[in-house]
Amino acid sequence: MRYQDVYDEWKADPEAFWMQAAEAIDWFRPPSRALFDEKAPIYEWFSDGLVNTCWNAVDRHVEAGRGEQIAIYHDSPITNATKGITFAELQRRVATLAGALRAKGIEKGDRVIIYMPMIPQAIEAMLACTRLGAIHSVVFGGFAAHELAVRIDDAQPRAIIAASAGLEPGRVVHYKPLLDKAIDLASHKPDFCVIFQREEEVAQLIEGRDFNWYGFQYGIEPVDCVPVEGNHPAYILYTSGTTGQPKGVVRGTAGHLVALAWSMKNIYRIEAGDRFWAASDVGWVVGHSYICYGPLIVGAQTVVFEGKPVGTPHAGVFWRTIQNNRIKSFFTAPTAIRAIRREDPDGEYIRRYKLHDLQALFLAGERADPDTIEWAQKHLGVPVIDHWWQTETGWAIAANPLGIEELPIKLGSPTVAMPGYDIQVLDEGGEPVPAGTLGAIAIKLPLPPGTLQTLWNAEDRFRSSYLSRFPGYYETGDAGYLDEDGYLYVMARTDDVINVAGHRLSTGAMEEVLSRHPDVAECAVIGVADDLKGQSPLGFVCLKKGVTSTPEQVAGEVVRMVREAIGPVAAFRRVLVVDRLPKTRSGKILRATMTSIADGKDYRMPATIDDPAVLDEIGQALSGARGA
Ligand code: COA
Ligand code: AMP
Repeated sequence: MRYQDVYDEWKADPEAFWMQAAEAIDWFRPPSRALFDEKAPIYEWFSDGLVNTCWNAVDRHVEAGRGEQIAIYHDSPITNATKGITFAELQRRVATLAGALRAKGIEKGDRVIIYMPMIPQAIEAMLACTRLGAIHSVVFGGFAAHELAVRIDDAQPRAIIAASAGLEPGRVVHYKPLLDKAIDLASHKPDFCVIFQREEEVAQLIEGRDFNWYGFQYGIEPVDCVPVEGNHPAYILYTSGTTGQPKGVVRGTAGHLVALAWSMKNIYRIEAGDRFWAASDVGWVVGHSYICYGPLIVGAQTVVFEGKPVGTPHAGVFWRTIQNNRIKSFFTAPTAIRAIRREDPDGEYIRRYKLHDLQALFLAGERADPDTIEWAQKHLGVPVIDHWWQTETGWAIAANPLGIEELPIKLGSPTVAMPGYDIQVLDEGGEPVPAGTLGAIAIKLPLPPGTLQTLWNAEDRFRSSYLSRFPGYYETGDAGYLDEDGYLYVMARTDDVINVAGHRLSTGAMEEVLSRHPDVAECAVIGVADDLKGQSPLGFVCLKKGVTSTPEQVAGEVVRMVREAIGPVAAFRRVLVVDRLPKTRSGKILRATMTSIADGKDYRMPATIDDPAVLDEIGQALSGARGA
């Protein structure tokens, strides 16, 4: 079958398509149907089936006689440690950890926050939760205590599983003090914490609240997988929205299993026994779908990599890891390839390693610029496939489905809609625009299995953020166009979300921090083009009258505040102190126009601007900063 046949088959009978895809999953009780539309426009998938994520990711592969195959390979170029964990070993570890959690009272539906670096224990903790039907929420290690506290208050976890420390090149990330501070800041308090002590830093445990990872599991009997309903939340993953309050994306269990299994085979061309590597972090959706669940669900080997594309120790470390693990499909963010290219423009490191198992490089997380794709194509000699998706969808909306058919690559396009997604580009009034015309990218409801079911504790926000602007559609927040061949081009966000080194961040959240500074009268944060990271945040602040601090002092202080409140991952380093911000007559700050000026792009003078002279002042401040 060719891509078009598969897509048409889905369109002709989505119910039959997804019921057939569901056969790739082991069920305790098979679902009677795929789509549950009783609460439309809120949809669920396979709700009356009974299933368990951990069973599908681990136990069933042991039952099938593949227990001695490697499930997880841990490679830490930072600590020089490598280790393979078989499916049988993973089953023992996960079943015991689940037993220990249950012994402390964790049951189906309880929330557990996981705050860990790229070590296998992070995956084990995720799987132990899903084994019990507990709902995990992994928080990225680059977020600061305040962000963790916000997630603790929203998810209300009964337990938190953390590591003592994470390792960034040249810097230890002190997870445990960050965790303690977050629990202090949060109104909700977990019953207990489990701490995995790393050799690099042994944390102080709080008597009665904190338990050592090993001691906690000592003498505990392994427990079996708990069957859960298809619509039971497998996990909550927080992602940036327009405000400082992150959105808790809720992933229903069965749709997640079915969609990931389908995507592994049909998009990434990966099946049982194959080796797959997604170089991301478990704190992001890519880490959930394609470091942890996707590969394991189909019985493939995954890699947990604790390192960076460059500097750990050199720009060849990705290729070394691909060679040593005989990786067949590799997935990373374009920014990682740009970082490598900057250090190794002629691809010399690539030639040092034997990459003959590698069949494709997949890119996502931000727009893949044609230069980066061409460089990777030239030096790797394999298809370089851009694909587009979001935390909300959990798997690719648009891709080149290598497992079905390799479609011609058009640079700058993540190719075509995957089955399940009816992509439409709409104008302001919600009408589809002709091919080649820019508009808001929306997806006709229902979204396919594996996509977000709702937002945690915030169904109204789910409706208002995604479902209300274009009734009958899911609003992606991205703008772009479709060409005559149905290829999609994703050009920009339509909201205040920016993408820094493949990390999704909210400029609104940064503005909230800036405005807390006592000397700041008003502020704006925009994302400006960055050669390496795609975008980087740039802050503008206006000072209150009579302020005695110098502009440099205030700028330094707000940079520290953002690092302290949001975390180093915000990469917020640049601030300009200006007299005024450009606004419309109704007082709305013209952020998009400021971005165009900063990026040196042509812009149209907004008809509603209050005082056009302010744009010149912004331009002067920017050129002053560039010259400095
Ligand atoms: N825990 C703690 N801190 C972290 C972190 C983590 N997991 N990840 C990043 N940080 C910190 C970094 O140490 C850095 O801190 P610093 O200000 O003290 O230097 C800060 O956050 C900014 O990090 P980053 O934006 O990643 O910049 P960088 O200069 O350290 O590295 C790249 C640049 C391109 C090499 C790096 O961003 C990268 O590997 N990107 C790929 C991203 C990716 O895979 N994204 C997944 C989405 S699919
Ligand atoms: P996240 O939820 O962190 O995965 O970020 C999702 C957002 O990243 C999308 O809405 C896009 O704005 C952007 N994005 C991800 N992948 C791509 C891609 N392949 N091309 C263009 N933008 C992308």
